[in-house]
Amino acid sequence: MGSPGRLLTAAVRRLRLRVGIKPSTAMARYLSTCPPARAVIYDQHGPPDQVLRVADVAPPEIGDRDVCVRMLAAPINPSDLNRIEGVYPVRPPLPAAVAGYEGVGQVHALGPAVDSDYLSPGDWVIPSPPSFGTWQTYVVKPAAAWHRVRSDVPPQYAATVTVNPLTALRMLGDFVNLSPGDTLVQNGATSIVGQCIIQLAKLHGLHTINIIRDRPGWEEAKDKLKQLGADEVFTQSQLDSIKNVKSLLGALPEPALGLNCVGGNAASVIMKFLRQSGTMVTYGGMSKKPVTISTSSFIFKDLSLRGFWLQKWMNSDKAEESRTMIDYLLSLVHEGKLKYEMELTPFSDFRLALDKALGKHGSRPKQVLSF
Ligand SMILES: NC(=O)c1ccc[n+]([C@@H]2O[C@H](COP(=O)([O-])OP(=O)(O)OC[C@H]3O[C@@H](n4cnc5c(N)ncnc54)[C@H](OP(=O)(O)O)[C@@H]3O)[C@@H](O)[C@H]2O)c1
Repeated sequence: MGSPGRLLTAAVRRLRLRVGIKPSTAMARYLSTCPPARAVIYDQHGPPDQVLRVADVAPPEIGDRDVCVRMLAAPINPSDLNRIEGVYPVRPPLPAAVAGYEGVGQVHALGPAVDSDYLSPGDWVIPSPPSFGTWQTYVVKPAAAWHRVRSDVPPQYAATVTVNPLTALRMLGDFVNLSPGDTLVQNGATSIVGQCIIQLAKLHGLHTINIIRDRPGWEEAKDKLKQLGADEVFTQSQLDSIKNVKSLLGALPEPALGLNCVGGNAASVIMKFLRQSGTMVTYGGMSKKPVTISTSSFIFKDLSLRGFWLQKWMNSDKAEESRTMIDYLLSLVHEGKLKYEMELTPFSDFRLALDKALGKHGSRPKQVLSF
């Protein structure tokens, strides 16, 4: 059997041959302006609940090679909040920046130079690679910036397929050559990335050890992750009280790969689980606490600490490859092999969705704005 990295690549290749999304035969509709849009805007960086405002914006012009898209759904991701706060390395220019980075919409109108075989009114499209300004009712971008996706999945999956599921797919293949039967350990397992890791790992015969934080409802969260295919799920406090975490592995092999999106103690416990010469990949910092490693873990275990940033990966020469992977991930959604918890909130209730995403209502599933 091949490694998960090779298996994933082969699956994506097969899909490329199979999908061949057919050119739409619908009549293209050429317009010079989009309808007026309502958008979530910020003029300065700061706490999102203080600096964001919802406002009408002038109808954007549709250039010759542009496409006007009516947005259907867009998530509120942690990195969207970091961009608004001004703590993310790449941010849109101010003032009057429109928030949001990924989402799905329906083609509303085309510029006159856009080939209607490439895109037609009614097609579902996502910005690919993701780009600024998805939290608004209409978006205009050049045709080449849009990727047509299948429309037979719930819109919230098309809206969220890039940032988190693609990160999960890449991290499984890019760092350690895992074979079916191997184990990986991750924290933040209730996140969308975490839920995708569990299911993609299971699809390729890998075992997962999952760490979640202590919070009301953790038992229910644990059951849900088990239903997705998690082998083991522990709360942070369960692990803090155990001297030798490896005694919890049972028959599972020691993990070669650890995935960290939390930092602090939740990262330290991943390193305790890792086998000799294992690798921990950090891709998020939800606790806002630093990653610290003991001297002995470096000297006696020879651990490797790496980092992953999807935006950097997509800015390389991977644009076409990433679209094929997105099609693959949406085919898994369509087949019922990839699912994750989300809560759709109407755009008119933006403030409520934002407060939930900021954790003001306790732990909530991913907030997805529905336009
Ligand atoms: N590097 C990259 O390219 C890349 C790409 C995608 C995502 N990410 C990062 O991956 C992480 C997960 O993103 P997502 O969209 O999948 O997350 P999400 O679905 O929005 O879920 C948020 C996760 O963070 C946990 N969490 C929230 N506050 C926390 C805290 N103070 N301490 C510990 N855990 C906390 C939540 O746990 P509960 O369930 O207990 O509330 C939940 O598991 C984020 O840090 C995001 O920035 C990075």
